[in-house]
Amino acid sequence: MSAQLMDGKALAEELRAGFKARVAALEARGHRPGLAVILVGEDPASMVYVRNKVNACEAGGMLSRKIVYPADTAPETVLAKIAELNADPGIHGILVQLPLPRQFDEESVLEAIAPEKDVDGFHAENVGALAQGNPRFIPCTPYGVMKMLEKNGIDLMGKEAVVIGRSNIVGKPMALLLINAGATVTVCNSKTKDLAAHTRRADVLVAAVGKPRFITADMVKPGAVVIDVGINRLPPEDGGKLCGDVDFAAVKDIAALITPVPGGVGPMTITMLLANTIEAAEREAK
Ligand code: GUN
Repeated sequence: MSAQLMDGKALAEELRAGFKARVAALEARGHRPGLAVILVGEDPASMVYVRNKVNACEAGGMLSRKIVYPADTAPETVLAKIAELNADPGIHGILVQLPLPRQFDEESVLEAIAPEKDVDGFHAENVGALAQGNPRFIPCTPYGVMKMLEKNGIDLMGKEAVVIGRSNIVGKPMALLLINAGATVTVCNSKTKDLAAHTRRADVLVAAVGKPRFITADMVKPGAVVIDVGINRLPPEDGGKLCGDVDFAAVKDIAALITPVPGGVGPMTITMLLANTIEAAEREAK
């Protein structure tokens, strides 16, 4: 039996179509949603992500401001820009693309963003609100995963959920969202002893480790829901294609539902960034 695909591209399009009316209503009242994206340095993946974020904003009728600094920029320069954007009434969301160059203390940069403009949901105040089950902004990738589970009618109450990955961007907020939804949650990482013993218990398995085809068919419970957050570039000798953390070709014969890469979680991340920015503008316009 082959698993049913969870189509993130289609859901992203559906949600973005729904955003149009909200953006138009805000604009009519003089509150066009605005997102500022700060990029420091020339990390190729970050440059692509930032370009896609800015383009998606503009395609959605929103204002975007891209601010690019060279890799050797002093942290004070970026902190001064964040202070300026915090005070700018035309900007509702501020995002600093991670990772930052070595001279930066990421935490102090994220803490400098006004919590009500922190559309990534990375400020300690917003992480705390999520942990308490009363989120203000949900980090975009795990938010997108929750939307996909909801769209596919997955009730998480009482389910065994296993998250592989413990990053602040995906793994930890993903675990909090699953806990808040009533799942029994285990958080593993690539070094977890006997990882397969954990993953084989999962009704819902979320892979966010950043290792190509790390999750093999023998690690998956028959009938599980498998969410692949990985976006890995295979080496040229293996075709150079994008590939997830899950061995899709084999796992699709075991799982009940599975996300493809590309076209799964990826398109949902930027969509939820737009959702958070619109939400920020709506709160501000109240
Ligand atoms: N780097 C990788 N993913 C993300 C994200 O969701 N937000 C930011 N700011 N940086 C990232």
